[in-house]
Amino acid sequence: MSTAARMQQPELQEEGLVVDGLGKIFPSRDTPTVAVENATFSVAPRQVTILLGPSGCGKSTVLRMIAGLDTPTSGRITLNGEPVIGPNRDRGMVFQGYTSFPWLTVRRNVAYGLRINGDATALAEGAVDHFLDRVGLSRFADAWPHQLSGGMRQRVALARALATTPQLLLMDEPFGALDAETRWQMQELLLDVIRKERMTVVMVTHDVEEALLLADQIIFLSSRPGRVKAVLHPPFKQDAAISTREELRAQPQYGSMEQDILRMMREEAAHG
Ligand SMILES: Nc1ncnc2c1ncn2[C@@H]1O[C@H](COP(=O)(O)OP(=O)(O)OP(=O)(O)O)[C@@H](O)[C@H]1O
Ligand SMILES: [Mg+2]
Repeated sequence: MSTAARMQQPELQEEGLVVDGLGKIFPSRDTPTVAVENATFSVAPRQVTILLGPSGCGKSTVLRMIAGLDTPTSGRITLNGEPVIGPNRDRGMVFQGYTSFPWLTVRRNVAYGLRINGDATALAEGAVDHFLDRVGLSRFADAWPHQLSGGMRQRVALARALATTPQLLLMDEPFGALDAETRWQMQELLLDVIRKERMTVVMVTHDVEEALLLADQIIFLSSRPGRVKAVLHPPFKQDAAISTREELRAQPQYGSMEQDILRMMREEAAHG
């Protein structure tokens, strides 16, 4: 069996991810914070869903609840029809910023998620090599994180999440700390990886261009408390037409979609 065949992700079933009437209130001594209110949306298998909205509107809170790292105050989340009640290896998470362990080599960083899941088999070792190759880091397998650029470190984080072969890849502004050029490279790399691995992704971003490049579906959240203000389906990724930023910008509908989203961002920022 080829490595690619062995490493195929356990795919999300047709039920996908369903977020139904989700709410989150953070208690406090004075006024509780209503972070998310009645958010409903679903994520189909092999689709990329982007959570977009103004700062503080509850994007990370929604993602953390999907990851099982936070508990909803109301509503429910199901994955393949099963309620999400805590973290599980069926969901892999890439956090914002610097997320590799400085005391482990690149290879050991990528293998880390497998080891905490108790999977140290030869197949798991194969997964490490496969995903290092996918993110273009094979040559750096024995390097230390301090020897890598910021973009390369985020590729380590991506490979680590992928190596656990999650059904759902969750990413919270994974490229937020990168300079503009590295960010474009990472977006194009991600597009390539999620196509080849047939991944289902939920990703938070502030960046409208990033959202339009990567998304099959954009869930636009209002200013706090986060409610679903709009659900958009950018047409650019259909039939695998787009793989670079230049191609995206050349699309006839690109300008008007970008303007619509920027206008919603401005309206919500004014209310926030
Ligand atoms: N653990 C917590 N305890 C109390 N309040 C919290 C907690 N986590 C988040 N909040 C509050 O919930 C609201 C939503 O926060 P969240 O981090 O989800 O926003 P966000 O959309 O991800 O923002 P940003 O774009 O700036 O990352 C904010 O008002 C925040 O202060
Ligand atoms: Mg956030």
